[in-house]
Amino acid sequence: MTEGTTQLEQLDEIREKALAELGTVQDEAALSQWRTHHLGRSSPVMQVFTQLPQVAKELRPALGQAANQVKQALEAALADYSQTLREAALQRSLQTERLDVTLPGRPRVRGRVHPTTLTMREIYRVFGEMGFQVYRTREIETDEYNFELLNIPQHHPARDLWDTFHTTTPGVLLRTHTSPGQIRVMRERCPEPIRVILPGMCYRYEQVSARKDIQFNQVEGLVVDRDITLADLKGTLNEFYRRLFGREVRTRFRASYFPFTEPSGELDVECVLCGGAGCGMCSGTGWLELLGCGMVHPTVLRNGGYDPEKYSGFAFGMGPERTTILRYGITDIRDLWTNDLRFLEQF
Ligand code: PHE
Repeated sequence: MTEGTTQLEQLDEIREKALAELGTVQDEAALSQWRTHHLGRSSPVMQVFTQLPQVAKELRPALGQAANQVKQALEAALADYSQTLREAALQRSLQTERLDVTLPGRPRVRGRVHPTTLTMREIYRVFGEMGFQVYRTREIETDEYNFELLNIPQHHPARDLWDTFHTTTPGVLLRTHTSPGQIRVMRERCPEPIRVILPGMCYRYEQVSARKDIQFNQVEGLVVDRDITLADLKGTLNEFYRRLFGREVRTRFRASYFPFTEPSGELDVECVLCGGAGCGMCSGTGWLELLGCGMVHPTVLRNGGYDPEKYSGFAFGMGPERTTILRYGITDIRDLWTNDLRFLEQF
């Protein structure tokens, strides 16, 4: 047997071996290894080409041709097999990663703005249009600011109007209304004219009921300037409610008493539900009590640094929770603070 013949037989072996190994390849990585082993530069077929010059001249064409055929056969098998592998992988992923497009989507839970906050933003908007600034003051107050400077001395019977949460520090309490902010803003701005609203949380030690809670917001208003009269107070509040409700609403002022205003009043608005005819919401009166107000007491002006001979002012305090339950027809004010999502998600 000549050398060339042996090499021809070897080529058969090379092909058989390579094809047999190809059958065991399972994935792309193994396939690429197979390619290096059987078609790479130092693979057995390629070696045959490298050694061709040493083969007897008359055998070279046949051997070269045979080696070429093996190489092409292996390349074709490789292309085939790689296609098979890709299809198998696709089938597998179709089986395992099946997607059911008819499944319902997962809802995204989004936070919402609290109904009282919605009302307060409306109140800020309307007063903002009317030239009022928002001025924030503290919720923890002193007896001095919450009462004394507002013309309510120790042991004054009017203190009974505000049942108070006291802290363990004598003279420090949770504010019972936003009125102490009047003194703070006056002392900061004096002698400038003032036109502000003071919103925020207030606290009272009270029996909780469907209409009263121990914590609630107030929006205080304060205007101080020369020549401010009761007519300015009435005009401002009438205009405010007209803008808030978006239409003409009837209002009425009733005389009342607060130690820090003189004269004092309460403002009623015609019932937004029955339009004044009388219903459950307004206890049959046709009117809703919405705020306390009055002309700033001279003593309070003086405590704020303003000379009551030259300056005058008006103040009011409204409860946004009250407006909120009216706006949305909420029957129990306690719902506003229980943080029940079934309630809150309705807004
Ligand atoms: N501070 C009073 C209250 O809480 C309301 C009020 C404010 C009355 C301003 C008059 C002027 O009851």
